[in-house]
Amino acid sequence: MKQRSCCFALRLVLFVHLVVRSHRVSSSTFVHTVHSKSCDPSESYFMILNRQLRRSYLVQRTSFPLFGMSKSSSSSPKSSSTSSPRYTNRLVHEKSLYLQQHAHNPVDWWPWGEAAFSRAKTLDRPIMLSVGYATCHWCHVMEHESFESIRIARLLNDHFVPIKVDREERPDVDSVYMSFIQAATGRGGWPMTVFLTPDRKPFTGGTYFSEPRLAAILEKVQDAWSSKREEVEAQGERVVGTFRGKLAGGAGGCIPGFESMTETEVESRVRELRSEACETAFQQLNGTYDETRGGFGRSLKFPRPSELNFLLSLHASSAPGDARGERALEMVVGTLRGMADGGIHDHVGGGFHRYSTDPDWHVPHFEKMLYDSAQLLACYTRAWQLTGEEALAHVVRATADYLLRDMRDARGGFYSAEDADSASPVQGGAKKEGAFYVWSKEEVELALTGAGMCEEERMRFCALLNVVQGGNVQAAADTHGELRGQNVLHLQVPLGTVLGTPADVNILERGRAALLAARDGRERPVRDEKVLASWTGLTISGLATAGRALRCPAYVKAAEDAAFFLLTRMYEKEKGELRRCAFHGELSSVMGLADDYAYLVRGLLDLYEATAETGYLVWAVTLQEKMDDLFLCRAGEGRGYLSVSREDASIAYPVSSTYDGAEPSATSVAVSNLLRLSTLTEQKPRGGEDRPSREQSDAGNLPFASRAERLIQTALQAPETPYEAPELLAALELYGPGVMQAAQDTGCRAHGLYYRGAGGLGNPPSHG
Ligand SMILES: *[C@@H]1O[C@H](CO)[C@@H](O)[C@H](O)[C@H]1NC(C)=O
Repeated sequence: MKQRSCCFALRLVLFVHLVVRSHRVSSSTFVHTVHSKSCDPSESYFMILNRQLRRSYLVQRTSFPLFGMSKSSSSSPKSSSTSSPRYTNRLVHEKSLYLQQHAHNPVDWWPWGEAAFSRAKTLDRPIMLSVGYATCHWCHVMEHESFESIRIARLLNDHFVPIKVDREERPDVDSVYMSFIQAATGRGGWPMTVFLTPDRKPFTGGTYFSEPRLAAILEKVQDAWSSKREEVEAQGERVVGTFRGKLAGGAGGCIPGFESMTETEVESRVRELRSEACETAFQQLNGTYDETRGGFGRSLKFPRPSELNFLLSLHASSAPGDARGERALEMVVGTLRGMADGGIHDHVGGGFHRYSTDPDWHVPHFEKMLYDSAQLLACYTRAWQLTGEEALAHVVRATADYLLRDMRDARGGFYSAEDADSASPVQGGAKKEGAFYVWSKEEVELALTGAGMCEEERMRFCALLNVVQGGNVQAAADTHGELRGQNVLHLQVPLGTVLGTPADVNILERGRAALLAARDGRERPVRDEKVLASWTGLTISGLATAGRALRCPAYVKAAEDAAFFLLTRMYEKEKGELRRCAFHGELSSVMGLADDYAYLVRGLLDLYEATAETGYLVWAVTLQEKMDDLFLCRAGEGRGYLSVSREDASIAYPVSSTYDGAEPSATSVAVSNLLRLSTLTEQKPRGGEDRPSREQSDAGNLPFASRAERLIQTALQAPETPYEAPELLAALELYGPGVMQAAQDTGCRAHGLYYRGAGGLGNPPSHG
């Protein structure tokens, strides 16, 4: 015991450096190892720090000693699968696949909620919060290694209150504690493991831990809880105080000296800031663009649609022939082509995998997230509209067909994701990453022969998609040996060239159909069938945009069905509030968050533009007003929109949403929505005597354009915006003179002359 506390005291020396306002971070301070044992490094602030940017609003060199934490040791994953359940805990009643996946652990899990908190209080125990999501590979590894372990279960059940959270169901809870983990450890990811006091103040944590490591940590935390309680509680207080303080000091919104500036001066200052931010963002992307393969950076590659949206809007707002505008489009098209040809693209079934583990887009991490395919659908559509390049339209169709075929619920909503792992047909049924998607040469030959393709055609097919004897995956790209002997299909001839060669089109199409049929005989990866309002909103947007551009009514109809599903099943008309999540036809109790509102409003505006059905616009207006009531940051709450609910007492401190990761931030999407709404609802500028002061704090009472203007001003003054918020910069394309004119006239605000509510615009959408 003595020994242990000694060692523990040493570890207290592990201090955490948070970045000071305007402190420049050298990229070498944060060397990020990409193959960290947690999912989704894209969402971590870390990737951005690597891009050498300044962060302005984090905290001072604060010390959050991490009780018992140091570098996690590695260990090999994978273990046996469960037979009939020996244990069943209360997660079995939850409406989340991820939570249900843990219902038969020996760990006595609790869902997030008052019952668990009061148990922790009564028993005077710390909470062990574990956050992940259903298609997260390392979450499953940790489950098998640790949460199926009797030793761990005993430690957790005897000394902690263990709580499981599905981050897709509760991104608010996730964002609160992820902000702590990122600040404290310099990185983030899932599974996330955080220790909290019974009143939910975090005091230590990390991401993935191996079983022995977790056991040691549990003992140390338990020890600290009993012998160093004051220190632990002080730490929790300090964390909460730090994050609250950070927000209280956040930028107010208006440009300094705003009150004494004329409208024209303000506008020209905003334009100046905007052009600086766009230039910085452009240079940063141009500087990291991969000329040969598309995409940005030299290691793993994520589709980050917000970057493409920014470049597309930069192109759209540039004069024809402008070097920067042309280059922007070139980078977008180069990236979209690279992804279309690469293994990140499911050449057999359509849709996109999560990210590529190499710069060639060849070997992906195989999970398929709805938000990726949904957003890319819109990117490919816009790029096709600008270039007329047939390959881009081809991808649009393949992606939309995938969503309609594999991801649509019979009720009209869209499922969230497909897992990376599934039973391997060759390895006696053990689950392997990518098993559903990869092929041995023999399997391909067999399928093509079965479809009546002659040897010459088979050879051509294999040449086109790089199917080779022994597999096409380099050992270095296959660290766990799961892809040995397998081929990840990727085009050797650009899709555009293939499409120009009728013989190749014929071979590719017949081969694809044969493989699709053969694949249907394999066990499918688990599909996470929860329907999120947010991601369904993005899908409505993608399908409406694609359907409108390609004149494909089936896509628009699918978008309408999804909107109808959300309206009738996930929306409380009386209160005007969205629910976040439905699972197999049942609503979860979680209320809609800012991204649910923002993405759905975007979807409805796209649907309105595709159908001219005013009901969608009416609903979008109502949702926007509700979103602003609930989530628009007020003074002292940071900038942009909150990613948590103000009313939710379980939230330890507020966190706002301004970072565009794989999913855009609610704030960025809302800025674009507000500008569009302002134009679509034609808020007419009117003169008036009682102009309200422009710095009045309740931005929610201003008309749409003014709310957008305020958000834009706040964002443009934050030096990290060009790196963090390309989606917001994309929205600035809409920030034109017409919109500004409406925004600048403050008279109409006082008299409520701007559009609010449904009057005059028809009724909510009906379904026919
Ligand atoms: C983009 O980067 C390339 C290569 O670094 C450079 O030659 C080019 O001038 C840049 N383009 C623009 C428009 O700045």
